[in-house]
Amino acid sequence: MTATLSAPPGIPAVEWPVYEPLVREINALKRERNAVILAHNYQVPEIFYGIADIVGDSLGLAMDAAKTQADVIVLCGVHFMAETAKLVNPTKTVLVPDLQAGCSLAESITADDVRLMRERYPGAPVVTYVNTSAAVKAESDICCTSGNAVQIVRALGVPRVIFLPDEYLAKYVASQLPEIEVMAWKGHCEVHERFRGADLRRYREDDPGLRILAHPECPPDVLAEADYVGSTSAMARYVGTLEAREAHPRVVMVTECSMADNVAAAHPGVEFVRPCNLCPHMKRNTLPKVLRSLQTMQYEVTIDPAIAQRAREAVERMLEFSRQGD
Ligand code: 13P
Ligand code: SF4
Repeated sequence: MTATLSAPPGIPAVEWPVYEPLVREINALKRERNAVILAHNYQVPEIFYGIADIVGDSLGLAMDAAKTQADVIVLCGVHFMAETAKLVNPTKTVLVPDLQAGCSLAESITADDVRLMRERYPGAPVVTYVNTSAAVKAESDICCTSGNAVQIVRALGVPRVIFLPDEYLAKYVASQLPEIEVMAWKGHCEVHERFRGADLRRYREDDPGLRILAHPECPPDVLAEADYVGSTSAMARYVGTLEAREAHPRVVMVTECSMADNVAAAHPGVEFVRPCNLCPHMKRNTLPKVLRSLQTMQYEVTIDPAIAQRAREAVERMLEFSRQGD
């Protein structure tokens, strides 16, 4: 007889009996296939706490994907994250549970658009957010994530950069580096662009002790209200420091909903005040789809060899920069 697994943090005990058989099957297949599950911080708790071997932000997942010894990587996140994993560890089989898990930022720009920007601003290096296709990365000098964008743009040491495709992240970078001219594209995250600074101001008026943490994909009026701006993993670490420093801190995480669910489970001393917005792409991943993915070895992510090498170089430059900072 197999012992019952107990509910991991973040998963209500009443829901666990529904998830437990799937978690068991997935874990058994992971061993059989020598697979590892990488999950982004926006994954639902039953994926994040139930089956993931490694969790993190885009940068952390890319770094761990590069290091893994497993034969198969199942990427519970969105398509560009799986492409990045394939770029940094090309001999592995990289699977996504749902091929439709895209990203509005990745959709906002093409390789032709990047070439056009280069013509418009000759000589300026192209810094590309990882939330893009491999074809767009291939036209870029270096990639970045929300966790290292400011540091990478600063390290280039040039007066002007082309920063693609997130207009708000570009504005955030420019606000941190006023000496550098940042030429932006007009891509937006459909989840973060919906937040409003005026709403956050009202929350703070109601509760002056409230700590506002925001992702840099939010519009400038939202970031102006924030006590802390950072990548998803940086926000989680910040909550940890608040919990250690203060009695009963109250926090609003201005980002995707599962983020606060996952962080709240790890920090019971912190009170989380919603609102949040759902990312429909991240939410395409479910336990049954992950199971099917491991059973059928679908959907495999492949990258056109004509662009893979140049895209890899742009991602590797970023990883090399971040490893030096470790
Ligand atoms: P992070 O790299 O901060 O996890 O962000 C990825 C993302 O898609 C946020 O919307
Ligand atoms: Fe893309 Fe926004 Fe979803 Fe992140 S939250 S994957 S940036 S649409």
